[in-house]
Amino acid sequence: MERSLSMELVRVTEAAALSSARWMGRGKKMEADDAATSAMRDVFDTIPMKGTVVIGEGEMDEAPMLYIGEKLGTGYGPRVDVAVDPLEGTNIVASGGWNALAVLAVADHGNLLHAPDMYMDKIAVGPEAVGQIDINASVIDNLKAVAKAKNKDVEDVVATVLNRPRHEEIIQQLREAGARIKLIDDGDVAAAINTAFDQTGVDILFGSGGAPEGVISAVALKCLGGEIQGRLIPQNDEEITRCEGMGIDVKKVLRMEDLVRGDDAIFAATGVTDGELLRGVQFKGAHGETQSVVMRAKSGTVRFIDGRHSLDKKPNLVMK
Ligand code: FBP
Repeated sequence: MERSLSMELVRVTEAAALSSARWMGRGKKMEADDAATSAMRDVFDTIPMKGTVVIGEGEMDEAPMLYIGEKLGTGYGPRVDVAVDPLEGTNIVASGGWNALAVLAVADHGNLLHAPDMYMDKIAVGPEAVGQIDINASVIDNLKAVAKAKNKDVEDVVATVLNRPRHEEIIQQLREAGARIKLIDDGDVAAAINTAFDQTGVDILFGSGGAPEGVISAVALKCLGGEIQGRLIPQNDEEITRCEGMGIDVKKVLRMEDLVRGDDAIFAATGVTDGELLRGVQFKGAHGETQSVVMRAKSGTVRFIDGRHSLDKKPNLVMK
């Protein structure tokens, strides 16, 4: 992949974030998602690549755009697979909450796991604790491993978990171990990425969320030198059959190399609402301001990009 592709791809997440951010707090998650999706789709047309969506808004018959198999880009440039989540945290935007992102990940063709839309059990950490976690081990053992790797006490470790009834046992074990816990309502991509940035104060992510989000998080953590392990958790026979049809062993622990192969991949995210890592979109009269992060696995370069966008010159980006 050309190195300039990463800078081009930020424009895609910026557009999605700008477009959906006006829906903040309006209680309309579908509208916010549609706005992000169509803005993302429009800008992809200008990106010099031969892209194919492998993780997107759904199958062709259920999603009008950014569906699995859709071709993206100008048709010139590297042949890449694309994973998108135009609005990661639809409920977050609807309620004006914390950590909604517009995100995408790109890798050389054939290198991203085509994760089915089902739950995935996940554990994720930043670079200091790479190689120390084990999704098959207990919560306390993982906490101890992270504490040791980061030279702190278990009581000082901060774990993030989606606040769901299905995570009652994990939360209970974290409390018994004495760890500090950040319960989040949504957005486990941001939660996974946050483990790799000291300033977020988060050390480890536990619990299940979307499998597609797991692959996108894996690309980000690959760029950052972190680690995520996952295991699909099909909820019924139909989901098991779907995995079998895709050649995925549901019992297998999915490691970094299973989720994103090869040595190169690009991840880009723009904040839609404020989060620990990225500021959300701000509207200031004739301008919209964005904050993004874009990173590349091959070089390990991580860039934070502040954007100032003229809403007069690009009125189509934002709902009036
Ligand atoms: P959406 O943006 O699709 O609403 O996803 C938000 C999210 O919180 C993800 O970050 C997470 O992986 C998943 O939903 C968790 O699913 P559930 O809400 O069913 O627990």
